[in-house]
Amino acid sequence: MKTAVITGASSGFGAALARKLVSEGHTVLGLARRQDKLDALAAELGERFIPVSVDLTDRARAEAVLTDLSARFPAIDVLINNAGLALGVDKAQDAKMDQWDTMVATNISALLHITHALLPGMVKNNKGHIINLGSTAGEYAYAGGNVYGATKAFVHQLGLNLRADLSGTAVRVSTVAPGLCSGTDFSAVRLGDKDKAAAVYQNVDALTPDDIADTIAWIMNAPAHMNVNYIELMPVAQSFAGLSIHRKA
Ligand SMILES: NC(=O)c1ccc[n+]([C@@H]2O[C@H](COP(=O)([O-])OP(=O)(O)OC[C@H]3O[C@@H](n4cnc5c(N)ncnc54)[C@H](OP(=O)(O)O)[C@@H]3O)[C@@H](O)[C@H]2O)c1
Repeated sequence: MKTAVITGASSGFGAALARKLVSEGHTVLGLARRQDKLDALAAELGERFIPVSVDLTDRARAEAVLTDLSARFPAIDVLINNAGLALGVDKAQDAKMDQWDTMVATNISALLHITHALLPGMVKNNKGHIINLGSTAGEYAYAGGNVYGATKAFVHQLGLNLRADLSGTAVRVSTVAPGLCSGTDFSAVRLGDKDKAAAVYQNVDALTPDDIADTIAWIMNAPAHMNVNYIELMPVAQSFAGLSIHRKA
């Protein structure tokens, strides 16, 4: 059985994955800011779910938390860098700089701080797996996706570059890139409005958090000699738009 850190365990993919991994007998250290959500999950899942309330964009606090967890759990086998968010759908020329800063701080900097804290221990133990949440937004451009998509493209490339550095070790790195997925707080956070968020998923069989949790569990439970570098998932209902052409009046 493994010990897994899941960032962003308070809702969406992270909570679904915590349920899945605990049901398989693994121990989950679940990190997020919302203490009430983490406590509810702990009450549901029992002692193999350890809730840790932390704002991961607070580097000093995040590093202190990880130092403490590493001491209490010397063999952290899996790090699932799932915490992340999109803010807004404005075009770049209209976007709010604070929203860009928050996306970079959460999706890139916080992910790097956690990875930097836990990776040396994995290399020392010659055992470990980092699974990062990318997005189709990091692969395919769309209007309003600007910085969010760019942060997820960073996550994809970071995973590949980590693989290059980890050559010769048994440590694995994978990126999971979902498309449209309902049943999470993602669109409510992005749009700041529950009704607008609900409309995103109206009359669509979107992916579900359990689809993502099942995929991550499969990647994690794959034989030790096998590394899933990158996997992209979309609901059947989602496909590709043509390239946009602006015609002169
Ligand atoms: N839903 C989709 O369609 C979709 C598609 C592709 C990729 N993704 C990616 O999948 C990941 C999970 O998203 P989701 O859909 O499950 O959304 P979600 O329900 O909003 O979950 C996001 C999680 O990140 C945590 N988080 C955000 N900022 C944090 C911070 N500063 N410190 C600690 N935790 C923080 C949130 O917890 P607190 O608010 O409690 O801190 C929450 O648990 C994200 O990286 C997202 O970009 C989502």
